[in-house]
Amino acid sequence: MCGIIGVVGAVDALPVLLDGLRRLEYRGYDSAGVALLHGDSLWRARSADGVESVADLIAKCDDGPHDCATGIGHTRWATHGAPGEHNAHPHVDCASGIALIHNGIIENHHELGDELRGRGHVFTSATDTEVLVHRIEEFRREGLTLTEAVRQTLNEVTGAFAIAVVDAAEPGVIVAARRVSPLVVGISEGATYLASDIPAIMDKATSFFSVDDDQLLTLRAEGVTATDLDGTPISLAPLVVDWDLETAQKSGYPDYMTKEIHEQPEAVRATLLDHLDKDGTITFDEMRLSDDALRAITKVTLVGCGSSYHTAMVAKYAIEAWARISVEVDIASEFRYRNPVVDETTLVIGVSQSGETIDTISALREAKSRGAIVVAVSNIVDSSMAREADAVIYTRAGLEICVASTKAVLAQIAALEVLALRLAQVRGVLSTERVVELFHQLTSTVDLVAEAVSREAAVTQIASQIANAHTFFFLGRHVGFPTALEGALKLKEISYVHAEGYPAGELKHGPLALIEPGVIVVALATDPALHEKILSNIAEVKARGATVVAVAADGDERIDAVADYVIRVPATPALMTPLVDIVALQQFAYQMAQSRGLNVDRPRNLAKTVTVE
Ligand code: AGP
Repeated sequence: MCGIIGVVGAVDALPVLLDGLRRLEYRGYDSAGVALLHGDSLWRARSADGVESVADLIAKCDDGPHDCATGIGHTRWATHGAPGEHNAHPHVDCASGIALIHNGIIENHHELGDELRGRGHVFTSATDTEVLVHRIEEFRREGLTLTEAVRQTLNEVTGAFAIAVVDAAEPGVIVAARRVSPLVVGISEGATYLASDIPAIMDKATSFFSVDDDQLLTLRAEGVTATDLDGTPISLAPLVVDWDLETAQKSGYPDYMTKEIHEQPEAVRATLLDHLDKDGTITFDEMRLSDDALRAITKVTLVGCGSSYHTAMVAKYAIEAWARISVEVDIASEFRYRNPVVDETTLVIGVSQSGETIDTISALREAKSRGAIVVAVSNIVDSSMAREADAVIYTRAGLEICVASTKAVLAQIAALEVLALRLAQVRGVLSTERVVELFHQLTSTVDLVAEAVSREAAVTQIASQIANAHTFFFLGRHVGFPTALEGALKLKEISYVHAEGYPAGELKHGPLALIEPGVIVVALATDPALHEKILSNIAEVKARGATVVAVAADGDERIDAVADYVIRVPATPALMTPLVDIVALQQFAYQMAQSRGLNVDRPRNLAKTVTVE
């Protein structure tokens, strides 16, 4: 969480920082701040209200920091210390000459803070971060360079960090480092940049480099030098960046969520591209796992968080149905604390849009340490997960900015279903003819997704009529269950309405007690094989006064008689129904949020990339 940016060189730093922070706000927006080296002093502006208010603050300032060549900026997602100006980054040392920004959590901040206070340091925030800048201050007083002072400090620290530090006494330098929390470096003619994520600096730099754990960087106008935390020089790995600025803009849409919902057919199409050879073989160029390795697998375990957990659940149905391998799905944050049973014959797949979610990274590390074959499904090329895993499958959804995941979800389902076909083929469970037939069914969902997206007005109209409801149950069976979970999650996160996703069969085992007039039940009724069962569940909740919104396939004539409202989606093969049903549920949640006047791109308390446990 949190977004950090820095620039040093022959550019006016302030607009670079503000521009970058606007593009990083999806990582957190509780507060924001910048620090610039201005002559021989440090200039700092912070606000409890995010980037625009920092910009306003500076605009009103007569002696503002213009034409500074070095600066750092931060947009915060609060962990330690409530959102507020005093906890906003950058934090400064006692003499206000050194400024530091941080993404992550310093776990031993209590001990370090007590020692520093004991030596007379005055703290002005309740953050875990501030200890770093005071400890750097001590090392600087001992005569260490800024780089050495940061190195010594980080060697005392436990926890996660991406930091950037400037010191008015050492102008023209930014020192940065990473452990767990992401950091990238960009270089252009005469200027060097760092950021939590590429979009912040994508149009500024011409070449990009990834930073690995425990690497320490010294950035100057002419470039960057890197060492490990022992001081041994290292080279940074170049990063492939295949986005342009257009992908980071709203391009005429009212918000990123709408844009990204509309980009879903392309996300699915691009993800499916080039996976079927002329001879009917399913291929994964980047996968790096031999057929023999895939044949030796006895179990698949999928891990992910939030929406990525839901797509992992969809994959379970597809892999078990097509490849006939036993599949477990785990919430990534639970996996490593349950002493999981995995060995060298287990394929562990981490599913993640960002490839940076700490819980999923940790789960994959745990699996790897136990000998499992580890695959990352990542939307970001060269993400931490992609680099650490034995193999990677990239989803091709393009840059996703809205905190609520949409197009990445559909792309993950598409990629995982192709993987299920690959496993089925290599293990000889399905014939090549059947695999090709199923692959073509998958590619034909691109048009079905486009059709579902085009039905936005009909979904909006239904959602508007029940916009005042407070309690929602989403019910589904088979892949309709993870679809229900995803529908409920979308509604919760962007409209702040209480919603629960349930397997429809569980209804009678408790939740039915909550059904009464005023409760909305959204029933996923698109799987023909389970249609009868869902109709019974609808009857049960209707009998207790619920209002029912059914998501049903075109041509389903029985549904109108039992549901109060029917959202129509194109008929789709059963295992692929989440690809169209989820589109309708995204649009439903979007309209509920719109009716409440909420900012869909920036839901309260959330951040796009969760890099803290
Ligand atoms: C989805 O709408 C959420 N914002 C969230 O649950 C997300 O899916 C989760 O944090 C996992 O992120 P990842 O895919 O980047 O790992």
